[in-house]
Amino acid sequence: MPDAAVAFSVTVSTLLALVTIVVADEIRDTREGETVTLKCRFSEQSAASDFSYYWARSTGNKFDNVAIKGVQLNTNYRIDFRPEQGIYDLTIMNTSYSRDNGRFECRVKASGTGADVHQEYYNLTVLTPPQPPFVEPVELRATEDEKFDLTCSSIGGSPDPTITWYRVGSEKPLKSTIAKGGSKDLRTSSTLSIVPRREDDGAKFRCVVWNRAMSEKDKLETTVTLSVNCEYHTRTSTSKFVP
Ligand SMILES: *[C@@H]1O[C@H](CO)[C@@H](O)[C@H](O)[C@H]1NC(C)=O
Ligand SMILES: *[C@@H]1O[C@H](CO)[C@@H](O)[C@H](O)[C@H]1NC(C)=O
Repeated sequence: MPDAAVAFSVTVSTLLALVTIVVADEIRDTREGETVTLKCRFSEQSAASDFSYYWARSTGNKFDNVAIKGVQLNTNYRIDFRPEQGIYDLTIMNTSYSRDNGRFECRVKASGTGADVHQEYYNLTVLTPPQPPFVEPVELRATEDEKFDLTCSSIGGSPDPTITWYRVGSEKPLKSTIAKGGSKDLRTSSTLSIVPRREDDGAKFRCVVWNRAMSEKDKLETTVTLSVNCEYHTRTSTSKFVP
């Protein structure tokens, strides 16, 4: 029985050594022009020649290898390749949004079978603050009891900013529909749908934009005033009040 237990535990540890280790996604922030090191560490491999090592990058819809073993394929990248010590780190110098904002992965594969031995992922965000919010339509003329959409949007932020609507006088965020830009070159927007009543004429709404490239106190915001046109309603709504 003890022998069987030992044999079993040996089998389990042998299996574990072969199973791919995927270290969870890690989020890293940087800013244009900075240097950042993405670490890739694994249990020591006895013969480096039995494995292939690479770093890859995906930005937008482009996927590229950026290093193969100790050779980096970009002059701004440096590789620390010491497989016998379980080290395969990538250093990115002079980071730029267009080149580096995206997902990086380190992979160690078994030569021959191509089986993954080790994988690490980094979502690298090159931070840039968003532009001030812009509200559409520019003329906020709503009609009583008719659905009216106010869209607040912002471009230029990395990551996509949060855009929150409030009614002036309340700190409670209003429910809105978010459309993420997914890139700093595309607008992220938040659409507030309201069905205004006559009393909402002159109501003020505040749109607040923020992302983590900005300090907490530096939120960008704009306030707009709704005008509710009741003319149409007063002419046609008589039947509404019949019990
Ligand atoms: C990293 O990015 C990928 C693809 O863009 C996404 O699916 C994943 O959820 C992100 N991971 C984290 C922790 O945000
Ligand atoms: C860093 O990159 C920018 C463009 O992204 C370039 O204009 C600048 O010369 C680079 N600086 C160095 C030190 O390589």
